[in-house]
Amino acid sequence: MDFEKIRKDFSILSKVIDSKQLIYLDNAATTQKPNFVIDSISGFYKNHNANILRGVYPLAEQATEMYENARQKIAKFINASDACEIIFTSGTTEGINFIADSWVQNNLKPGDEILLTEAEHHANFLPWVLLAEKTGVKLKFIKINPKTFKLDFSDDLITEKTKLVALTHSSNVLGNIWQKDQLEKVIKKAHEVGAKVLLDAAQTVPHQKIDIQKLNPDFLVFSGHKMLGSTGIGILYIKKEIQDEVAPYRVGGSMVHSSVSKSPTWVESPAKFEAGTPPIAQAIGLGAAVDYINENINFDGLKKHEANLCSKLIDGLQQIDGVTIFGNIEELKQTGHLVSFFVEDIHVHDIASLLGSKNICVRAGQHCAQPLSTVLNVQATLRVSFYLYNTDKEVEIFLKELQEAIIFLKG
Ligand code: ALA
Repeated sequence: MDFEKIRKDFSILSKVIDSKQLIYLDNAATTQKPNFVIDSISGFYKNHNANILRGVYPLAEQATEMYENARQKIAKFINASDACEIIFTSGTTEGINFIADSWVQNNLKPGDEILLTEAEHHANFLPWVLLAEKTGVKLKFIKINPKTFKLDFSDDLITEKTKLVALTHSSNVLGNIWQKDQLEKVIKKAHEVGAKVLLDAAQTVPHQKIDIQKLNPDFLVFSGHKMLGSTGIGILYIKKEIQDEVAPYRVGGSMVHSSVSKSPTWVESPAKFEAGTPPIAQAIGLGAAVDYINENINFDGLKKHEANLCSKLIDGLQQIDGVTIFGNIEELKQTGHLVSFFVEDIHVHDIASLLGSKNICVRAGQHCAQPLSTVLNVQATLRVSFYLYNTDKEVEIFLKELQEAIIFLKG
């Protein structure tokens, strides 16, 4: 991978404010966008803009083709068996709410169980909490081990009552929390009892090769903006074999055969699941992001690069008094892309603001994962998260500025 070339592809990375170079270390929240993606979105609006699946004039037909091409690229990227399994949404959150309000609400009854982990992002926690309140469905959790920061799964968590297993593929606070082969075992066990599996892959699709057919969930969700695409676009994968069981989440234009028959009948997926005008330019931009990744990233190289940055950061953090790293250090050094930590007697928001004043961007807080903070009894952490364009030099500057911020805040 040509890291120097890559950095040049992102205009924002050369931004200097008050003579301080931008250091962007908040990639788990959202990534920066290469000019290639930005140009593809503006190029669509400049040259091709029309609504899709409706007009019979060439501009509309071209827009439809570009939109459907993007779907094909994403299907290939995650090795889906058919492009109809790729549904465009506004992001991970919408994808999960979609399944909660359609398949789950229509198929589960009081007393049925949904299995989650204790490390879910609120996007894969709150929809189930509301659903449980509304329907009497019961939520169960795979516990996180506070020493290893890995999940403790036991077979008896999945029973005949389990109807859905909805899991994060990787924690947005801790990184990988699965033990070797554990996730595969959970998916297999869920399928043995007839439960469906939903994976929240928002933190993995940008960083590792996903082979959906090998992984074999029934639903998988991720966001475009965390993988070089724009905001407002995400993917909900629905396995082809179960698409007939899934009702549309929204109804409206371009998804019905007949709306005046006794009961409306839906067209096939994906249109069945994409009522109304979709985020056309954003989907095309996500297709361009996939092109950019295919062209510039090999996932083994990316993993090595990000893990080296994590390793350097952890080595530096371990030299600073009062710092506690929140995560499995060994694993983060081998395969991580983010590191969370806290500093004794200082609120991490104060550190993050001071770093912000130096143009260093990191996230502080509970990272929309309050259940995790609660079970591990940690108020808030500072999170540094990397992507393909970050450098050793940035880690060095971060560590230096962090030490200065701590000295300043400790008075
Ligand atoms: N889910 C995003 C994060 O972890 C917003 O920061």
